[in-house]
Amino acid sequence: MFDLHHPDLGLQLDARRMGLSASDLVDPALDAALDHLVELEAGEPVNTDEGRRVGHFWLRAPERAPGGLEEVIAATRDAVLDFADRIRAEGRFDTVLQVGIGGSALGPQLLVDALPGDGLHVAFLDNTDPEGIDRVLAGLDLARTLVLVVSKSGGTRETRNGMLEVRAACDRAGLGWAERAVAVTCADSKLDRLAREEGWLARFPLWDWVGGRFSVTSAVGLLPAALAGRDVAGLLAGAAAMDRWCRAPREANPAALLALAWHRAAEGAARRAMVVLPYRDRLVLWPRYLQQLIMESLGKRLDRQGRVVHQGLTVYGNKGSTDQHATVQQLREGPDDHFLCFLLTLEDGRSAAPLEVEPGVTSGDYLLGFALGTRRALSEAGRRSLTLVLERLDAPTLGALIALHERAVGIYAHLVGVNAYHQPGVEAGKLAAAEVLELMARLAAGKDPGSAPEDDVELVRARLQRSN
Ligand code: PA5
Repeated sequence: MFDLHHPDLGLQLDARRMGLSASDLVDPALDAALDHLVELEAGEPVNTDEGRRVGHFWLRAPERAPGGLEEVIAATRDAVLDFADRIRAEGRFDTVLQVGIGGSALGPQLLVDALPGDGLHVAFLDNTDPEGIDRVLAGLDLARTLVLVVSKSGGTRETRNGMLEVRAACDRAGLGWAERAVAVTCADSKLDRLAREEGWLARFPLWDWVGGRFSVTSAVGLLPAALAGRDVAGLLAGAAAMDRWCRAPREANPAALLALAWHRAAEGAARRAMVVLPYRDRLVLWPRYLQQLIMESLGKRLDRQGRVVHQGLTVYGNKGSTDQHATVQQLREGPDDHFLCFLLTLEDGRSAAPLEVEPGVTSGDYLLGFALGTRRALSEAGRRSLTLVLERLDAPTLGALIALHERAVGIYAHLVGVNAYHQPGVEAGKLAAAEVLELMARLAAGKDPGSAPEDDVELVRARLQRSN
């Protein structure tokens, strides 16, 4: 009941150490959450605050998309793959630089890092830190670099700044911009208009029904992955297979089980955090990816009725067994304020014959040993844990993992009554940043700081003094 297997995907979800009981599964709230996903997939505008549909599942099953969208989804996907094939065949570029942030960077970074491939090298510019930008640019031969500027809204400042910085570097090197620039954004956004007016090499659309952190199976993730020679078809097939599995009744539905397990561990006064521990170096970005997917979706002040609820599910993690030498001491002996999500693979991912580090024992045996040992030690201390086991780590299983967690987020959000598909907190930070830049302009012009907080004024003054 709490241990589900998908033999074709080679994936097991084991929630037997989460302290669930059979009665947890017969919760009408869970049925309502599953019904909600059915409505969502049918194209109801479930993102009510923004009056939008939520359609990331259609990206891997266009035939399920409502009226007219099927063609546009399939045509965009084909155009992305054709473009990637053409670029790789031409041999003009050997590197891709993706400029984007949040959902426009984390998913693609995960795909490129976790999957093998023999295509172009992919680098990312995901911040407006000047030194960080210089470090990335210093490692590139811009003449051989294709630049993807990725922003759903087309107005994100960090991404705009990154684009301007790369563009200026191209100018300094005497390189044309439009011939190497590609935009991935919603039709008619500021970025889309710029790319159109300047005749950039290509433009690929996004749609308002794909949220940033749910966009990894759109052009946002598929384009860099295809350019990098990652198995995009496998990724989509694995995600689609998981989506199908997650339409099963609740007892056999892995997303329902996952969401329920999270919810029962995190609800109430305990508010346990989720600690994500993938036991594969190739999955080191998995905790960061999940952190955004979950915390930006579930961390909400208001519920759907407008009541103050301060919901959220804290996520952090790193890779095992490395974290055994960092956080596990507290996880076992400190406060019972977390539950673990182990992610294990049965194959080692090594083609060469394994070295025996001790008679009959390989490094991979040790990795599994440390994973199960840590799990057991934590269970003995009363800590809850979930385990996801992959027979192999490849594009279909990664696609399946992504789809599983996207769905679990949707179910959890419904269980706690919040909208998973908007991010008012992020908007608030962006507005406040704009106010700080206004303050900077006022102070630089010798004007009064107005009602700005004193500590902001101090820091802005200190910065202005340094830059003078
Ligand atoms: O999930 C989200 O919506 C955000 O993390 C966005 O992806 C992020 O803010 C970047 O937005 P955009 O793609 O519009 O530049």
